[in-house]
Amino acid sequence: MRRPFVAGNWKMNKGPKDAAALAVEIVAAIKGVDTVDVAVAPVAISLAAVNAIVANTNLGMSAQNMFYEENGAYTGELSPLMLEEIGCTYTILGHSERRQIFGEDDELINRKARAAISHGILPIVCCGETLEERESGSTNDKVAFQVKAALSGIRIEDAFKVTVAYEPIWAIGTGRTASPEQAQEVHAMIRNLLGDIFTAEAADKIRIQYGGSVKPANISDLIAKADIDGALVGGASLKAESFAAIVKACS
Ligand code: 13P
Repeated sequence: MRRPFVAGNWKMNKGPKDAAALAVEIVAAIKGVDTVDVAVAPVAISLAAVNAIVANTNLGMSAQNMFYEENGAYTGELSPLMLEEIGCTYTILGHSERRQIFGEDDELINRKARAAISHGILPIVCCGETLEERESGSTNDKVAFQVKAALSGIRIEDAFKVTVAYEPIWAIGTGRTASPEQAQEVHAMIRNLLGDIFTAEAADKIRIQYGGSVKPANISDLIAKADIDGALVGGASLKAESFAAIVKACS
């Protein structure tokens, strides 16, 4: 059995003060939950403030992005060593907003994923199709290509360190969730593919989160599906009450 994993992607919201306050509320709201891995991903500038709240609690911390070098002339970037020092267990990589707005490509995301693993940071690797791709029937091809590219060169013994987040772009921030059946179909395809990339045994251990307008009202039907192992939550993770409700529905 895979342990569910729910992460809150706060995106470009909550500076240090507000982030710490929200972390305090979430820690209180999920107290005692011990059957789900939970993390929040604040903006980089709020990581230290959030770590001061969540250290030694059941709330983990993730970055929203990471560069692959340890240090050097990379203006504006953060290294795996820095994320580790500040208390990050995870980092989100290859979010569709990074791909679409900041031009990240599959090769860059793969370098980041490999660097994260070699520095002990657990990558949450995002994939997902546009509405156009879904409507033209190329969802599986697109998602499979992204997953294969992102995980290229990762060793079988490290496979379990990876989380894949399937986030159909048309469902992000739109209030339009993939139906549990639509999501399960892609998750099952991803798990099969992970079996080809690694081994069936390794694929069985990798958690696949669904993301895209996840709310307390729809999480129960999503998490009930065989290959949906949790959620990457955007908007609903900005309120302790809704985020905690999603976490508890997965426990
Ligand atoms: P929403 O939950 O706001 O749709 O965002 C999903 C997402 O992009 C999480 O990474």
